[in-house]
Amino acid sequence: MCGIVGYIGDKKAFPILIGGLKRLEYRGYDSAGVALLNGSLENYKKKGKVSDLEAFVAGKADDGTIGIGHTRWATHGEPSDKNAHPHVSMNGHFSIVHNGIIENYAQLKRDLETHGYTFASDTDTEVLANLIEYFYLQDDEMSSEAAVQLALSKVVGAYGIAVLCKKETEKIVVARKGSPLVVGLGSGEYFIASDASPIAEYTNQVIYLNDEDIAILQKDGFTLSNVQNTPVSLKISNIDMEIGAMDKGDYDYFMLKEIHEQPKTIEETFRGRLQNDYSEIVLGGLLNVFPKIEAAKRIVIIGCGTSWHAGLIAEYLFEEYAQVSVEVEYASEFRYRKPVLSSDDVVILISQSGETADTLAALELAKSKGATVIGICNVVGSTLSRETEAGVYTHAGVEIGVASTKAFTAQVTVLTMIALKLAKRKGTISNDDYKMLVKELAEIPEKGRAILSDGEKIKAIAEKYHEAVNALYLGRGYLFPVALEGALKLKEISYIHAEGYAAGEMKHGPIALVDNNLPVVVVAPQDDYYEKVVSNIQEVKARKGNVIAIVTEGDKGLKEMVNDIIEIPKSHPAVAPLLAVIPLQLMAYHIALLKGCNVDQPRNLAKSVTVE
Ligand code: M6R
Repeated sequence: MCGIVGYIGDKKAFPILIGGLKRLEYRGYDSAGVALLNGSLENYKKKGKVSDLEAFVAGKADDGTIGIGHTRWATHGEPSDKNAHPHVSMNGHFSIVHNGIIENYAQLKRDLETHGYTFASDTDTEVLANLIEYFYLQDDEMSSEAAVQLALSKVVGAYGIAVLCKKETEKIVVARKGSPLVVGLGSGEYFIASDASPIAEYTNQVIYLNDEDIAILQKDGFTLSNVQNTPVSLKISNIDMEIGAMDKGDYDYFMLKEIHEQPKTIEETFRGRLQNDYSEIVLGGLLNVFPKIEAAKRIVIIGCGTSWHAGLIAEYLFEEYAQVSVEVEYASEFRYRKPVLSSDDVVILISQSGETADTLAALELAKSKGATVIGICNVVGSTLSRETEAGVYTHAGVEIGVASTKAFTAQVTVLTMIALKLAKRKGTISNDDYKMLVKELAEIPEKGRAILSDGEKIKAIAEKYHEAVNALYLGRGYLFPVALEGALKLKEISYIHAEGYAAGEMKHGPIALVDNNLPVVVVAPQDDYYEKVVSNIQEVKARKGNVIAIVTEGDKGLKEMVNDIIEIPKSHPAVAPLLAVIPLQLMAYHIALLKGCNVDQPRNLAKSVTVE
């Protein structure tokens, strides 16, 4: 949530900042701004997209080789020019950009008001800008970094900040706690960003700041300490990010590109991991913890949104094949419960970004209870990947569309591999079943390609239903979480109210919604639940609902019964979610497009939810 960029060096800062903000726009897109040190401290900000800011600033910010920028996802104060970042302190000494929430901002604001401070915005960030300035002005000898340090020692909450000081014209001060910040190391220049994507085209050497780190960037040097003013050692990491992966290529939207990438990204996820003719699954990142996973009486899986849905699929897999008890938790609930956890438990945290605030808080709680914590994450170098004991990267590549697609199928692929490997180690699966399932998994990309080649048919179905106000998604067993995921995709990008339900639960309430206006999407391939799901479809049809069924190729039974049918290739039920979700992603995409929605940047959402 919210994207931060910064540059200090000899190049013109503005184009670098704008380019960086465009890469980070997936993190928030309700307003944007930049500040430049150019003899004076220039501040430009605007409600709207980064392109609106670019047009607004055109011709005004041609000089200046030091600057910071921000793209916002509103927390305190509505999206507007005045609430956009950077925020300038009352006397104009500081300009700051901030990602996170200052929880005690109201108290700090009242304290500052008693010292004569007034406020031009509704944000918590402006309070921090004024607090820094207040300390700075207390002492003529005070440096900007010392003022930042003092101010942060008073702050409760989360922050990633970059600060410019009008009088210290060769410096950017940055700090983080709970909100990610990466520093890119160039030659005589430094870059700052919320993630490595804006930095990758300039340098592959980065430093991921840790909580409470404060860094001072100057053209000729870089120092790192922490809020307590103790020096911190630098750990330089290499990033390997393909810039082309961050472009739309031939597609109109990132979401469509990412949906179509799935056969390839699933292959990437198991590349090098399915070995020796698929008779072995190698997960190097879990080598040291597998004995603990094997010994665990219980596995707790934690995530948010789509990542939580991947966890639900894993529950079925782990229970059926590895015969271990599993609980799947929303990170936002888990973090405030009093969970009974011990060193005997294994906690798997799933996150595309690895920066979701709730998931990171759940991670800390699990750690504090002594549990073994494992991460499944897409973004290399993210906080989750650094804070967990062990883990597996999903290797889906950069996911930019706010609606998660390829990250989901990559997560499910990883979880399937873990479940099968665990089952094999525990001896709870026969060799034949193991080999058969690994082969089924390996065949998914080819089958996925077949579904994607049928895109026009799915578009035609979307045309029939895009004016619906509500929709119901039903599935059973492994496909119940897929129904939840299909409903989430539809609601987040088309704003149609959609509910996902276990098909067997429909009669306990949701059936009351069924009438001739309601599209009911039923995931009904031929598996052990097929007959039961057919009965559920009959119940919907008897009440004049419109059924769109996702069925196994060649299914004859449902053709006459339902309104629309989408076929997917035959697969084993345990891997069917990887296929069944694809038509649901495509249907949501086409419906949203027909409704004129921005599928990559849906309203009110941001890709990484780094605030509570
Ligand atoms: O980065 P994470 O996987 O931790 O993100 C979790 C959710 O915020 C995310 O899956 C969200 O639900 C997506 N917008 C779903 O498409």
